[in-house]
Amino acid sequence: MILWFSGTGNSRYVAERLAAQLGQAQKEMRPELIKQALHIPSAERDIIWVCPVYSWGIPPYVRSVIKDIRFERDGNEDCREMRHHLVLTCGDDCGLAPEMWRKEISKRGWTGDKVFSVTMPNNYVCMKGFDVDSKEIEEAKLSAAPARIDEISRAFNDSEGKVLTDVVRGRFAWIKTRIIYPWFVRHAMSPKPFRFTKECISCGKCAAACPMRNISMEIEKNVDDGRQRPRKRPRWGDNCAMCLSCYHVCPRHAVMYGKSTLNKGQYMNPKV
Ligand SMILES: Cc1cc2nc3c(=O)[nH]c(=O)nc-3n(C[C@H](O)[C@H](O)[C@H](O)COP(=O)(O)O)c2cc1C
Repeated sequence: MILWFSGTGNSRYVAERLAAQLGQAQKEMRPELIKQALHIPSAERDIIWVCPVYSWGIPPYVRSVIKDIRFERDGNEDCREMRHHLVLTCGDDCGLAPEMWRKEISKRGWTGDKVFSVTMPNNYVCMKGFDVDSKEIEEAKLSAAPARIDEISRAFNDSEGKVLTDVVRGRFAWIKTRIIYPWFVRHAMSPKPFRFTKECISCGKCAAACPMRNISMEIEKNVDDGRQRPRKRPRWGDNCAMCLSCYHVCPRHAVMYGKSTLNKGQYMNPKV
């Protein structure tokens, strides 16, 4: 069973390709997933988690799913014999995200087995100095991805029983994961700075794309510009995973994160 979380489609693309190659079922980590036990077919022994790297760590939302999800196999909820693996997608590097994941998995009494990373186009744009990749880099990453995913599928089939970590860690991994990640989670993941500009055409694509269902389209109040009917506008709730799908999916580039996304680019994986 492949469980994936994705904002702009990179992790979804990787999950779907892996699922097809390994002949496994795949499921999105939606908030409803933890409401009841997830049935795992008797023949399956592997759970493969697929998600993006956030600030050289595991997205807090994915950590919460790991903490709360329940599996059920052959009428049994213990499922300790299942093997857990992780495939991360990252724009550049993962730091110690694999270790963070292994720790979360072990808190449930499970064992973390294989961990891989796939380098994909970057989608983080909310701080000074961070932007999407140039078109050339984006294309180079997208064309290298299939071979990397094929390599990962082969490793799943060939290295049975071997615990393995094969990721791009980058420099200063310890500082990035142990110092910057906690700061980032505390100070840079609030949905409060999200807003829409006057370019918004009320299409609702931001709300539809949100994997957390955290955006509602609400009738605009106090508008008196001569329009016949008031328009619906996006409103962000508190349950945001900071995946940035709302920002990147907007056809008018009308979603902003404070002022930090001014003049930044947009990206959505073209294959999903
Ligand atoms: C909040 C946030 C933090 C990120 N932090 C990192 C990072 O630490 N290292 C990195 O290489 N990429 C980072 N990225 C980029 C994503 O990991 C990368 O683009 C990923 O493939 C996006 O996956 P998705 O399309 O499935 O959402 C970050 C993206 C976001 C939204």
